[in-house]
Amino acid sequence: MAENKPDKTASLLGRVISIVNQKGGVGKSTTAINLSAYLSCSGYRTLLIDLDPQGNSTTGLGIYINKNHNSIYDVLINNLDPGKIIISTQYEYLDILPSSTKLAGAEIELVSGFKREYRLKKAIDSVADFYDYIIIDCLPALGLLTLNALTASKEVVIPLQCEYYALEGIGRLVDTINLVKKNLNPELEISGIVVTMYSKTRLANQSIKNINKYFNKKVYKTVIPRNVRLAEAPSYGKSILTYDPGCPGAAAYHNLAKEIINNHNHKNRKDDSGSIPLRIKNFWDSGEAPRHAVKKRKYSHQSV
Ligand SMILES: Nc1ncnc2c1ncn2[C@@H]1O[C@H](COP(=O)(O)OP(=O)(O)O)[C@@H](O)[C@H]1O
Ligand SMILES: [Mg+2]
Repeated sequence: MAENKPDKTASLLGRVISIVNQKGGVGKSTTAINLSAYLSCSGYRTLLIDLDPQGNSTTGLGIYINKNHNSIYDVLINNLDPGKIIISTQYEYLDILPSSTKLAGAEIELVSGFKREYRLKKAIDSVADFYDYIIIDCLPALGLLTLNALTASKEVVIPLQCEYYALEGIGRLVDTINLVKKNLNPELEISGIVVTMYSKTRLANQSIKNINKYFNKKVYKTVIPRNVRLAEAPSYGKSILTYDPGCPGAAAYHNLAKEIINNHNHKNRKDDSGSIPLRIKNFWDSGEAPRHAVKKRKYSHQSV
């Protein structure tokens, strides 16, 4: 990260957003990758933290780290400096803190650890000044790793798969978020619910109605359609932005990114110069955004 340090005076937003749902297969990693790609290509400096031992966000961006290399596991368990582990991606403003299978053991190793819920927060605090957005892709569980993510975030985005059982277990997730807010992190808020894998059926429409009823105004207007291109992209190590920017799934994630950018809660802002910082407006005015260009990796503190 060192060579690529953005100017600290540039008033970076420092928004930390966890993508959480204890169910697997609801679209967390797909949302984390594609949201991060669109934010970064809109000029926002973005860090994607892969907090799932399955490493879908890491490999989905075409990054394969050797098992001897450092990862988020070493940040949480061995207290390594995240700045030395973060690696650049194919997108100019997107970095990643990669995962590895070792992370599967971290839940148990953390149990007896000192300040065990605050490990990720400490790590994020040390790099937060370099990013507008830090997106955390959580694992499908409500254990210590997810508690670390919730303790380190100000915002939670919950992907719900558009199906009959979408709301199953959601009460427990909301209770967990409220407990973290009460005991560990008073700033935590649910920013929004994103409905994923929508296909036009009566059942899906009924699910959306139920989700809206449960979460009232917290549901994003953008609904992510079921789109096979979104499922194919990770196997090419690409976000949808480079794999197929014209497909419906790409348009949906672009719109979701815009909603999240515009939904910014001003009380959390480091500057209050309007909802979109001048730095970003200038980037857009330069005609470069959204930046689809793939750049060559500029730096890496470890060979991957
Ligand atoms: N909108 C979508 N349309 C089609 N397939 C999708 C969509 N979103 C996710 N998928 C696929 O569904 C599976 C689960 O998605 P994933 O993002 O990995 O979920 P999670 O991270 O919650 O486990 C993956 O194979 C992914 O490619
Ligand atoms: Mg995942």
